[in-house]
Formats: sequence, structure tokens, C-alpha cells
Amino acid sequence: MAFTQIFAHRGSAGTHPENTMSSFKEAEKAGADGIELDVQLSKDGEVVVIHDETLDRTTNGKGFVKDFTLEELKKLDASYKFNTFFKKPRIPSFREVCEWLKTNELLCNVELKNGVFPYPQLEEKVIALVREFGLENRIIISSFNHYSIVYCFQLAPEIEIAPLYSEGLFMPWIYAQSIRGKAIHPNQRAAPDEIVVSSMENGIAVRPYTVNKKEDMIRLFNIGCSAIITDYPKKALELRKQT
Ligand code: G3P
Ligand code: CA
Repeated sequence: MAFTQIFAHRGSAGTHPENTMSSFKEAEKAGADGIELDVQLSKDGEVVVIHDETLDRTTNGKGFVKDFTLEELKKLDASYKFNTFFKKPRIPSFREVCEWLKTNELLCNVELKNGVFPYPQLEEKVIALVREFGLENRIIISSFNHYSIVYCFQLAPEIEIAPLYSEGLFMPWIYAQSIRGKAIHPNQRAAPDEIVVSSMENGIAVRPYTVNKKEDMIRLFNIGCSAIITDYPKKALELRKQT
């Protein structure tokens, strides 16, 4: 049985300011198999790495991400609400993350945060960067907006797509196959053993989010789940060694 891959959610969001280079580098240092990050577009059309549509929760800025240029976003402290110990990490551009990914072998799950705003050209811009850096085999594009990932597949069939969902889908492997996905990314509540096992038996990888509790990690490791997405990659890696 192959081991369960560990994806660091928003980097190592449990211990470091989420979606920052310091959080991603911590995941690499811990030995994670991959990272997960969230992307949106800035006012001047740059792909930027941040979870919320607004700046208020994670930075010292206020307002919508889409109303600021990359240069303006770069002035903000992306660890503002986390911990003063971190030396003011900035909101990364997706280009910066791609440059860094070329220095390692990590997988990267890019979540398109286009459930609220449409962000015209987000799909095209993400795909262009993935191709520019030759990362097609290491990127998985996911979204709660399933139309968007179907569109990504039309634009770039060489890049894996995975639907995100938070409640139970009936026979999700059939749904994934119907949209040419190779994986599903369910909330862990929607990933009981039988769904994980049946999906994998039908050739669909399963990467539940956000798996932070020890008992949930152990359950998924024991059934050979394809991957978990966790805020605590270091803890998950230690547990994986023991199971
Ligand atoms: O990719 C899984 C997870 O990141 C989806 O939820 O809100 O943490 O982006 P959220
Ligand atoms: Ca996410």
C-alpha cells in the first residue's frame, strides 16, 4: 500500500502565517510531499496568494484584494494577525511561488478562490505560469467552483484538476470521472472510509481537507488514503512514520 501524501494547508497554517513563503518553506523543511495555497487576482491582474476575498483577517490592510495592485498588496504585513515573531512576511505572488517550486520537488495544490468573484482570466493566468515554469506534472488545480476546473481542463488537459466539496456527494468517483478529474478533495467529514476506498478502487485519488486531529490522520493513514491536507504537516509526518 502506497503511503498517504501530506499536503501542507496554506503552507503550515497551524504554526506559521498562512499562505506566506515562510509557511511554505516550513512545509518543505518538515518534509511534506506538497503544499496547498489559494489564489485570486489583484487589481492589475496579477495572480496573488491569499485565502480571503478581503485583506482584513490576515493582513494590516482593509478591503477587497481585487481593489489593490500587486505593488500595493506587497506593502502589507501578511502575518499581522498571526504573531509578531514573524518578520512581516508579504503576500506572495503565484509567480514567486512557482520560482521557489523550481528549487524543490514539492507538489502544489492551487485552489482557485473564484466562488465569490468571477476573476476573469484567473484560469488562463494560473495555467500560463504553470506552463512557463514547466510545473504541469506537479500542480493540481482545485476549486469549489467546478465550472472553473472544467474550464481549466479544457485549457490545459495536461494539468490535474480536482473538485473541492464540503458535503456528501453520492458516488463521487463517478462525478470526478465525468468531469475528467483524477481526484476529489472532500471536506474530511465527507470522506468516510467507504467513500475513500471506493473512489481509490475506481482510480480516483482522495485528498480530504483539513485533517488536523491525530485520530483523523491515523484513520486516513490506516486505510491508505491518497493524501491529506493539513495545517500541521510536521505532526502528520511524525504520525505517518509511526503508522
Ligand atoms: O483545499 C482544501 C481547503 O483549502 C479548502 O478550504 O477554506 O481552507 O480554502 P479553505
Ligand atoms: Ca484552500
